[in-house]
Amino acid sequence: MCGIVGILGTKPVAADIVDALRRLEYRGYDSAGIATLENGKIGRRRAPGKLRNLEDRLRESPLDGLAGIGHTRWATHGAPTEGNAHPHMVGDVVIVHNGIIENFAELKQELIADGATFETQTDTEVVAQLVARARAGGMSPREAVRTTLARLEGAFALAIMFRDEPDLLIGARKGAPLAVGHGEGQMFIGSDAMALAPFTNRITYLEDGDWVALTRRSMELYDVEGRQTVRPMSFSQVSSNLVDKGNHRHFMAKEIAEQPEVVGHTLAEYVDFAERKIRLPDKLRFDFAKLDRLTITACGTAAYAGLVAKYWFERFARLPVEVDIASEFRYREAPLPKNGLAIVISQSGETADTLAALRYCKSQGQHTLAIVNVPESTIAREAEIVFRTYAGPEIGVASTKAFTCQLTVLACLAIGAARQRGAISAEKENELVSALVEAPRHMAEILKQEKHVADIAKQISHARDVLFLGRGINYPIALEGALKLKEISYIHAEGYAAGELKHGPIALIDETVPVIVIAPRDELYEKTVSNMEEVAARGGRIVLLTEADAAGAAHDRFERISIPHANPFISPLLYAVPVQLLAYHAAVIIGTDVDQPRNLAKSVTVE
Ligand code: F6R
Repeated sequence: MCGIVGILGTKPVAADIVDALRRLEYRGYDSAGIATLENGKIGRRRAPGKLRNLEDRLRESPLDGLAGIGHTRWATHGAPTEGNAHPHMVGDVVIVHNGIIENFAELKQELIADGATFETQTDTEVVAQLVARARAGGMSPREAVRTTLARLEGAFALAIMFRDEPDLLIGARKGAPLAVGHGEGQMFIGSDAMALAPFTNRITYLEDGDWVALTRRSMELYDVEGRQTVRPMSFSQVSSNLVDKGNHRHFMAKEIAEQPEVVGHTLAEYVDFAERKIRLPDKLRFDFAKLDRLTITACGTAAYAGLVAKYWFERFARLPVEVDIASEFRYREAPLPKNGLAIVISQSGETADTLAALRYCKSQGQHTLAIVNVPESTIAREAEIVFRTYAGPEIGVASTKAFTCQLTVLACLAIGAARQRGAISAEKENELVSALVEAPRHMAEILKQEKHVADIAKQISHARDVLFLGRGINYPIALEGALKLKEISYIHAEGYAAGELKHGPIALIDETVPVIVIAPRDELYEKTVSNMEEVAARGGRIVLLTEADAAGAAHDRFERISIPHANPFISPLLYAVPVQLLAYHAAVIIGTDVDQPRNLAKSVTVE
């Protein structure tokens, strides 16, 4: 998603703005731009593609202003061309924007009818036009922004500067995140604290509907009702070090390799290793024993973590669970039980649909629990209780370590819930926790097979379509394997519940279609193997992921990735790793942009 940076500085700001934009690169973007104010003029440089293209422009033609705004654009309205790249300028106004102005078409029509001409296909330009017109009509910058904001519908964050006001930077937030950074005689604005970390750790997060007028020494903040108000300043823990790839070729490779460590860190927060018990925080304001139903919402990979959790909560805690993708859940006006518990899961903590689902659940009187990786994110700040994943910064667009850490937290919660509900004995809790703490060791074993997985990925990389099959608790891992493969290698892939195959998808099977079968030795193993034989009988090329000791003549006919023998309870954590590796190596062989695949964004702040 788009990234926003603004600086009122004491020295030329262009280089700092580019640095901050680099820290927002992980969000995904397809063009970038910057504007600074210098001697009563607005200087602007923009470029399609990566930030290095913008840096080339700046080298050819530097900007020296002491105040400026910058932007990485993830195209929504109009192709990712230089012309559509932000900042957008109309008259004395220059503006950057993240999000979508939903009523831009009608505003544009109205402006055109009033004589305005447009240079871009973006929705953002209507905002610049409205502010510029209000200014031309005699309004002050603050007044012009205030009246413009009142006309905008949608979810957005904005940073706005004025040619003749070198000590003024206005920011606004509705839906999309925006933070103010306080410096010494300097002020900053950014999409998140990570962007501002090199400059300051003193951060004020804007609330929804807020807008703020900054000078180098002051901050005036207005809430959604237009009342001047104060928001707390917090000290961000985000490190100013730019996360690097270490010895890895891609962030995704590094993040896959980090999983034993970060799953271990996450376990350390929620497990009493000595007693082999789950530690639930005292501050829980609900009792699992009193719940009739649990509602889990999330998007993409995080939603698949929720789907795995459904199996865990239902089986061990005997607690019915409803899982839905947040983009559907938020609009279907689901009736929710009184005093129920809603869990939202999000790596970024900024996903627009998940945030909306959280707000809906709150409005329906639910207790809310967020599983998030970014502790200062909007979802973390708005949920009643936060269970953090300790994955560390995840930079690759495709979620890997955040997913397995989400699974880890959910497994702990499910065991904790099972205990509170009296659904499992102390011995069973012991058994499950003992299995869980073994997960990092098993994951490390699986990672040792990377070369073998890469060889199999080579064969898959020629396929046009790939199927992933799983059953029960590993059905969501089949969905996740397919998502991972398609999003980074662009090979079409689908995940299916193995038992569903003969209800349609089996028609796709021929010798050109690799079928990845996820089959731990659990109670459904024989059934999955039967489904696999049905595929083999029709010429499908099978890659079997199962335990090393799952012997049998049938298996020797297929490509095989051996997974350590473990309690089936933790199998989703283990089988996630080879499917990630398969996707990663297929993408590397094909030569796609693994960390920033086309069209994708890391932090999806629009719906
Ligand atoms: C896929 C992927 C996405 C995210 C989804 C939710 O690899 O990363 O499907 O899982 O966009 O993002 P978060 O977890 O930030 O809410």
